[in-house]
Amino acid sequence: MNQLLSQLEDLRAEAQAALAQLDSTESSEAWYRDYLGRNGKLTALLRGLGQLSKEERPAAGQAANQVKAALEQALHERQAALKQAEMVAALSAEGVDVTLPGRPQQVGKLHPTTLTMREIIDICAQMGFQVYDAPEVETDEYNFGLLNFLPGHPAREMQDTFFTTNPDVILRTHTSPGQIRVMREHAPAPIRVVLPGKCFRNEDVTARSEMMFYQVEGLVVGRNVTFSDLKGVLLNFANQMYGEGRSIRFRKAYFPFTEPSVEVDVDCILCGGKGCRVCKQSGWLEILGAGMVHPVVLKNGGYDPAEFSGFAWGMGIERQAMLKRSIDDIRYFYENDARFLARAG
Ligand code: PHE
Repeated sequence: MNQLLSQLEDLRAEAQAALAQLDSTESSEAWYRDYLGRNGKLTALLRGLGQLSKEERPAAGQAANQVKAALEQALHERQAALKQAEMVAALSAEGVDVTLPGRPQQVGKLHPTTLTMREIIDICAQMGFQVYDAPEVETDEYNFGLLNFLPGHPAREMQDTFFTTNPDVILRTHTSPGQIRVMREHAPAPIRVVLPGKCFRNEDVTARSEMMFYQVEGLVVGRNVTFSDLKGVLLNFANQMYGEGRSIRFRKAYFPFTEPSVEVDVDCILCGGKGCRVCKQSGWLEILGAGMVHPVVLKNGGYDPAEFSGFAWGMGIERQAMLKRSIDDIRYFYENDARFLARAG
């Protein structure tokens, strides 16, 4: 009897020590099997009760039941503690720390061409110019004929123009055909418009020329529009675009649709005219072509050149962006390299 009682005590101590070692609710099931289950150690001990005398049995049975109840109670407590610990661990592993700072997001930017086009349009808008949209797909007539290009003019040749299957329909090589469209749609004068948009030339792609590029055309038509007006508008443009105190210079040039025609330079924005790598030691940077609207073009637009005069200019947007943003190769613009777009924006 005493032997059985001390065995019970030993078993209780052993079982409790084993219970304290458990590290998961899962392992507590094995513990149950080892100690309290049908083939467990306590059940084995209780089989020994049969050998005891009748008088001894009740006390021994009571002691055994106490141990059993104590172990069951201890198991429930241990399982509850383990469950709680497992829940806390799971929560901290899967949980979101709402106090963490957010991850930075890449924010899109406007393309340097778009930014520059808007700057140009804003400057012109302050001088009273309105924006006019003209088509990118043009007829040969608008792109050349009505602009006074004679039939054999080199710019009409295959290497410059992108044709469609219809030989009369082409991709515009400049924004100037918009001049005719504006004049035909808006009569009588005054006209003061800018025409921004894409142009296409079937040229070799180099650091200075792309097959697709943007221009902003300007057109003013009125009764007493003079070359001085052209100069004033372009000088103001240069000052707004490239900084106060800029000088501009006119060089004689030839365009079929203007007479006289000029190319316009601004004093080098890098060296101020002393001569450097950017201006190739000349002190000047070419920014656009311009001139007084040719009488033939006025007439083709529905305006009588005896009564009306006008001036026009055309500037490459990428060219202005390159000068303002120190970009040395036009090919960067439409390669879509995110590093360029992030830097140049
Ligand atoms: N269309 C000309 C070009 O693409 C530029 C220009 C426009 C010149 C208007 C004079 C007047 O080179």
